Amino acid sequence: MRAKSWFIVCLGMLLAGSPWTGLSSLARGEGELDRRLARMLKEAEFTGRMESELADRLGREVDDELADLGRFLFFDRLLGMKLDNACAGCHSPVSGFGDTQSIAIGIDNNNLVGPNRTGPRNQRRTPMVLNTAFYPALMWNSRFFANSGDPFDNSLGFTFPQPDGATLSYLPHLLTAQAFIPPTERNKMAGFEFAGDNDDIRSEVVSRLNSTPSYRRLFRNVFAL
Ligand code: HEC
Repeated sequence: MRAKSWFIVCLGMLLAGSPWTGLSSLARGEGELDRRLARMLKEAEFTGRMESELADRLGREVDDELADLGRFLFFDRLLGMKLDNACAGCHSPVSGFGDTQSIAIGIDNNNLVGPNRTGPRNQRRTPMVLNTAFYPALMWNSRFFANSGDPFDNSLGFTFPQPDGATLSYLPHLLTAQAFIPPTERNKMAGFEFAGDNDDIRSEVVSRLNSTPSYRRLFRNVFAL
């Protein structure tokens, strides 16, 4: 049958109303499911207005230039000592800032993100990082945490495993402090060849940023007084 004839048959079925009977009962079923879901979301205090409430929850307006700078860093392999992985290599925006891989693949990957990524595996799955600014504890087993129970409050310090311990507590927010960790992890981003400790790796990242004029300009715009 030619395409035009199919169209006429389908149109006929639609006008006869037969498919609608099935569809409306489906809609009734979904309506009930929707109501149950809406109830559960309300109980869990989901409002569906994350963006419009963000400034309130953050306690400040979103600074677009600062957010852009963070976005550039998140996607930049310059933070990997071997220039072969970025935060987004594992926390992929197309997978809700999580991963399609069951266990993360870090260094020595094939430069792909998603199902076709290959390379040596780490030990755990990459979690989604949406909304993590509001988490008082991070990582699957909560081993990074704000001692105050509030990620916005560093007054009692932040706890990280050794060797970093409490040394990142001067940072204003738990998530800001957390960002200092992945570039130092050997199987995630740093690789095993670079000689030096976590602070040496961080200094190397800073000196790479310092020698990139576009980053100097972006940092100056956001942080210069
Ligand atoms: C090799 C893949 C990989 C890379 C690269 C990577 N991460 Fe992750 N990330 C993970 C995994 C796996 C975990 C959970 C690990 C655990 O619990 O031990 C995680 C956890 C996190 C968490 C905590 C999420 C939660 O729900 O507790 C944040 C936030 C995060 N990463 C941010 C970053 C940032 C920022 C970068 C870049 C500077 C980065 N990650 C680079 C794999 C990666």
